[in-house]
Amino acid sequence: SLPMTLPRLAEKKRLGEAIVMVTAYDYPSAQVAEAAGVDMVLVGDSGAMTVLGYPSTVPISLDEMVMLTAAVRRGLRTPFLVSDLPFGSYEGSDELAIATAQRFVKEAGADAVKLEGGGVMVDRARAIIAAGIPVMGHVGLTPQTSTALGGYKAQGRTADAALKVAADAVALQEAGCFSIVWEAIPAAVAEELMPRMEIPVIGIGAGGATDGQVLVFHDLLGIREGVGARFVKRYGDVMDEMVRGVRAYADDVRTRRYPAADHTYSIDPGELTDFRG
Ligand code: KIV
Ligand code: NA
Repeated sequence: SLPMTLPRLAEKKRLGEAIVMVTAYDYPSAQVAEAAGVDMVLVGDSGAMTVLGYPSTVPISLDEMVMLTAAVRRGLRTPFLVSDLPFGSYEGSDELAIATAQRFVKEAGADAVKLEGGGVMVDRARAIIAAGIPVMGHVGLTPQTSTALGGYKAQGRTADAALKVAADAVALQEAGCFSIVWEAIPAAVAEELMPRMEIPVIGIGAGGATDGQVLVFHDLLGIREGVGARFVKRYGDVMDEMVRGVRAYADDVRTRRYPAADHTYSIDPGELTDFRG
């Protein structure tokens, strides 16, 4: 199929066709997303935790995010590729935000970037868009600033908090974002806000009223320890399957069942005789 474009994403919203987004962080996960036929791939800064083992999304560097994005790009042809701007790489000024976004496009082949939050981040989004790079917004639970939010928990659960989510979402839309992520907000709040949204809204823990859904690759496939957030639905137990495979290999090596004759190379008997001398 043809590469996904912004007009085709907008068209999907208009037609009421659900938009499917998943994260990826490397060449094989990108190939999985491609083969599964998703619409959009996000190189999330969740990769800080899922593939680099950091305790939160905060420590991942710009260089690390660019490297992950470049690997995903090499495994992807069709889905629209969005990359997260990591914590500390865009907040300080419009100039910084533009320079950072440009790295993702020039060095890694991203189609667009995503940044977290409203307020002054709306200006950062506007600046990047003015520089010709599409921007996806992200409101509700914004993990990069979860300390300021009082922890990793649902947002918009009071009238005031829901009004803040609404104001940020509309401001990001007005700034020209092509799409927006709503993370961990009440389904009823999301439903109430949807009529005001002209751009595709991709939910994660925001209920079924949004235009699409996004989940973290490792969460949905069970490549992790523990259960994860309330909004995660698990569609596989890939970690268990990988451990099973490596354990079986270890067992075969220790019992000398591996390698078998099939896995070995032969030599012409005459050559072997000469070799022995
Ligand atoms: O980093 C990430 O994976 C994300 C999605 C969960 C939206 O930002
Ligand atoms: Na993210």
